Amino acid sequence: MPFTYIEDLAQHEGETITLKGWLYNKRSSKNIHFIIVRDGTGLCQCVVHQDEVDEASWDVAEEIAQEGALAVTGTVKKDERQVGGYELQATGVELISASEDYPITPKEHGVEFLMDRRHLWLRSRRQWAAMRLRNRIIMAIHEFYQSRGFIQMDAPVLTGNAVEGTTTLFDIDYFGEPAFLTQSGQLYAEAMAMAHGKVYTFGPTFRAEKSKTRRHLTEFWMIEPEMAFYDLEMNMDLAEDFIVDVVQTVLDECEEELEVLERDLEPLQRVQKPFPRISYSDAVELLRSDETAEMMDAREASLHEEEEALKQERKDNQKEYGQAKKWRKRQIDAREIEINQRLNEIEEELRNLPQWKESARTFEWGNDFGGSDETILTWHFDRPIIVHRYPAAVKAFYMKRDPEDDKLALGMDVLAPEGYGEIVGGGQRADDLGFLKDQIEKHDLPEEAFEWYLDLRRFGTVPHSGFGLGLERTVAWLGGLEHVRETIPFPRLLGRLSP
Ligand code: 4AD
Ligand code: MG
Repeated sequence: MPFTYIEDLAQHEGETITLKGWLYNKRSSKNIHFIIVRDGTGLCQCVVHQDEVDEASWDVAEEIAQEGALAVTGTVKKDERQVGGYELQATGVELISASEDYPITPKEHGVEFLMDRRHLWLRSRRQWAAMRLRNRIIMAIHEFYQSRGFIQMDAPVLTGNAVEGTTTLFDIDYFGEPAFLTQSGQLYAEAMAMAHGKVYTFGPTFRAEKSKTRRHLTEFWMIEPEMAFYDLEMNMDLAEDFIVDVVQTVLDECEEELEVLERDLEPLQRVQKPFPRISYSDAVELLRSDETAEMMDAREASLHEEEEALKQERKDNQKEYGQAKKWRKRQIDAREIEINQRLNEIEEELRNLPQWKESARTFEWGNDFGGSDETILTWHFDRPIIVHRYPAAVKAFYMKRDPEDDKLALGMDVLAPEGYGEIVGGGQRADDLGFLKDQIEKHDLPEEAFEWYLDLRRFGTVPHSGFGLGLERTVAWLGGLEHVRETIPFPRLLGRLSP
């Protein structure tokens, strides 16, 4: 039977069509059921009057429960007040298959409960919006590079050498030979850049990270452009153009998704060129400055203030609850969930702040930034920032040194605002054979495994640069999602391999 998607209802006003989907929600009164159907493209309220459908249809409408599959036939009516702006006046309802005791109900569930049911949780409205946002971002990334003449390439997932240090490798047995899941496609992208000039990889990468944070997955997707004849400055220019472009596309085209996710748009609208660029050394000074200490005190004070106000609001609501009308009770219940969520966030931040402050104040030149240092640095600015020229000792073996100061590597990271931290890491590559050989030895890496890579420096080596953008961190940031686990269909985390 032909059917229509909810997103296309506007083209069918006044016509009789059939929707196929799942029961999202149902309200009923004596002779009428208001059935909200979701079909993957949107939500639509279907009004089922007992007098307007046959008995079998009425029975289906009576009995169907959350996530039961159904087909509803009816007339499309414009109704601005309803979700999606259209309503279906049902003339027939057909059961496709039943669903009983669906485990994810509109009430609140804990994260582990939901993660165990990720295969079903994906149907929820917020998860739906997050996956659509991810899809649009993926397309925007391809559009950006394709329109600039970059060649997309697929780097191997099975590899014989480390890229980003040896501590986060997943080992595998490759027919008796040791091998690894790739940490980054960069080295292969470098080879392809010498063949094509400008390339990018877009593929899965793996890190055996023993960190349980909101920013870490063990399997994530990375976009890695690599360009021959680009120096560090050109690399930073590209990263900036790239991020501004993707953010703009999301603002232009993901209105509904951002609304469902309740994303505050204002910080995204501020993502404009130029991004402040500061050297690592200046960033360290900024972290240790009085200005930072004062900013953190001010933040602490404003969090306390917000906490008080929320607690007061909760108290007032509780007082009102007993005498409140039903609709108002529902409103108070919903607000209670919001208030508690925000209070938890505030509490956590207040717990962390003293430690963050201390680690910023006493930060030593030469260390790598921790998540909190990145967050604090971005508080000083109104948009993403680029930190460049890190101590070579904390960066990977392939980084070119700063000709002005041999202790520094020509690396750069883009830090996203609002606590999302590093979304891009990259830099200019070492292009000198002798230096690179030396680095491979100093990093205790097996030279045989890198012979092919060294060839790139033997045959027409040129200055070149590139970077990697983490897709999930980007989706989390643009969607305003708390944790990267909600940015990928089936997240792989420390302690989670299923579903
Ligand atoms: O900074 P990273 O480790 O850089 C590289 O892998 C380079 N080889 C990239 C290059 O120059 N071509 O990782 C790049 C980005 C990070 O900025 C972050 O966004 C993301 O990849 N990332 C992770 N995302 C989620 N979970 C993890 N465990 C991640 N590790 C890195
Ligand atoms: Mg990095």
